[in-house]
Amino acid sequence: MFSWLMAKYYDYMLRDAEEKCLKDWRKTLLQDLSGDVLELGCGTGANLSFYPQTIKHLVLAEPNSFMQQQLDLKLKNYPHLSTCILDCFAESIPVPDNSFDVVVSTLLLCSVKNPAIALSEIHRVLRPGGKLLFIEHVAANNNPVRLKWQKRIEPFWKIVQCGCHLTRDTEANILQAGFTLKTINRQSMRGVPAVARPSIWGAAVK
Ligand SMILES: C[S@@+](CC[C@H](N)C(=O)[O-])C[C@H]1O[C@@H](n2cnc3c(N)ncnc32)[C@H](O)[C@@H]1O
Repeated sequence: MFSWLMAKYYDYMLRDAEEKCLKDWRKTLLQDLSGDVLELGCGTGANLSFYPQTIKHLVLAEPNSFMQQQLDLKLKNYPHLSTCILDCFAESIPVPDNSFDVVVSTLLLCSVKNPAIALSEIHRVLRPGGKLLFIEHVAANNNPVRLKWQKRIEPFWKIVQCGCHLTRDTEANILQAGFTLKTINRQSMRGVPAVARPSIWGAAVK
């Protein structure tokens, strides 16, 4: 039931954050893309309006069928993008090694079951020199009070937010997967509850 509700009201729930910061982050991150691009956990397609026409091909991966329905509706507004939809989890991407120039992960690594496996899959499917572009909310490692609240709330949050974790150290996980950070912004995601605000966004290179 929660995954149906999440898909139906996802855009509504994020509208404040989109206006206050997310749209700007998405736009900056995706503006200069080219080549073959894979977006994992694309949800309702919040990134679609920011993909430039310089992209050769865009593969949109999403395992939740309710999210896919919302995505289908939105995709009709982007006939200029060469897209296909893949029904898969980030932990098991059914494509050969070195298939993509760019992998996009926005608000995904908080939700995957196993971030280490997901990141090693992302590393595998990227070509040498390929980029992982990310926007992720993370553990408040430099704010002990907020981190304490994140830990307290996380068990309940995970249930109502379809597996979303509040205390992941995604920056460390990206480095452990063998990526080199090219750019990283550490900012507060305004427009969401305080426990989900600490965020990182940027690019890492294979
Ligand atoms: C918080 S939403 C983010 C949607 C979109 N990427 C955005 O930026 O707004 C998380 C998405 O990841 C998907 N997801 C959850 N676990 C996943 C996994 N293991 N592999 C791939 N996608 C997953 C969910 O179905 C959902 O659509």
